[in-house]
Amino acid sequence: MRARITTAIFPIAGLGTRFLPATKCIPKEILTVVDRPLIQYAMDEARAAGIRDFIFVTARGKSALEDYFDTNPNLEHQLRKTGKTDLLADLKETNVDSGHLVYVRQHQALGLGHAIWCARRIVGDKPFAVILPDDLVVAETPCLAQMMEVYEEFGGNVIATMEVAPEKTSSYGVLDVVETIGRVLRPTGIVEKPAPGTAPSNQAVIGRYLLTPAIMRHLNAKSVGAGGEIQLTDAIALELARKPGSVIGCRFDGVRYDCGSKAGMLKAIVAIALSRPDLRDEFREFLATDPATAPQHAALAAGE
Ligand code: UTP
Repeated sequence: MRARITTAIFPIAGLGTRFLPATKCIPKEILTVVDRPLIQYAMDEARAAGIRDFIFVTARGKSALEDYFDTNPNLEHQLRKTGKTDLLADLKETNVDSGHLVYVRQHQALGLGHAIWCARRIVGDKPFAVILPDDLVVAETPCLAQMMEVYEEFGGNVIATMEVAPEKTSSYGVLDVVETIGRVLRPTGIVEKPAPGTAPSNQAVIGRYLLTPAIMRHLNAKSVGAGGEIQLTDAIALELARKPGSVIGCRFDGVRYDCGSKAGMLKAIVAIALSRPDLRDEFREFLATDPATAPQHAALAAGE
């Protein structure tokens, strides 16, 4: 029997510089895709995969996230009084049972690997999930739940991967794949942000991981890697070298939006708005008018 994974780490201590000036005072993870913050999509995905304990690795300026997952008695009272039961139900998703959400500070943004290491004493000697909320995955079966199925079968470390164009590999962790069986990839190596033209494959890692305690032990070394940061990918590579076969890639079914970038965020908003029954007709009609050529947009673009 495999140890069940019920704890997830959400590393959210990054500076979010690609969204400045907004992120000067709003955490990136609170930025909304339609009407839900990025962190809510990540929490929903975690819960659907059986996660019960949540660890947020935060930093200065992220306190809005703490308030978001707290109850707001005044607001709830007001909604109840005015009969807005739908909105009350929506608010329920933003609550976490007391004692199941822990915040730990990363005092300096030293990299994703370091952020995860900051949670080591809370995770203890158990396998754990890692979710990067700025990767939003739209899928029929949530991405983390797909990965749990692979974990149940194979155990070890399971990382979500997707195919990217060769010229994009230098932005990702990339697997050196030896074998592909259905959605399961068996890598012999993994490299963070390979220099252009040197990527071992086009199977890129996205922000979903199921990891063993061995990864935390590798992170203890605090070795600095690509970009001068302590990289999670390097710890995974070490484990793969120490124990061949201990890392599995899961080619998930679904679409991933990189909401850490402006273009990715806009794509996610369009995709999710078009999937929402309350918005899609009006929004589709707006898109069909082709804003790029509609006279008022053309005039604005021309600076008139
Ligand atoms: P990113 O590479 O997207 O960095 O981190 P960032 O700082 O959030 O954004 P930019 O590049 O400045 O715009 C990927 C994930 O790792 C977390 C981030 O919060 C994000 O969820 N992270 C990164 C940390 O928690 N700590 C770090 O030191 C670095």
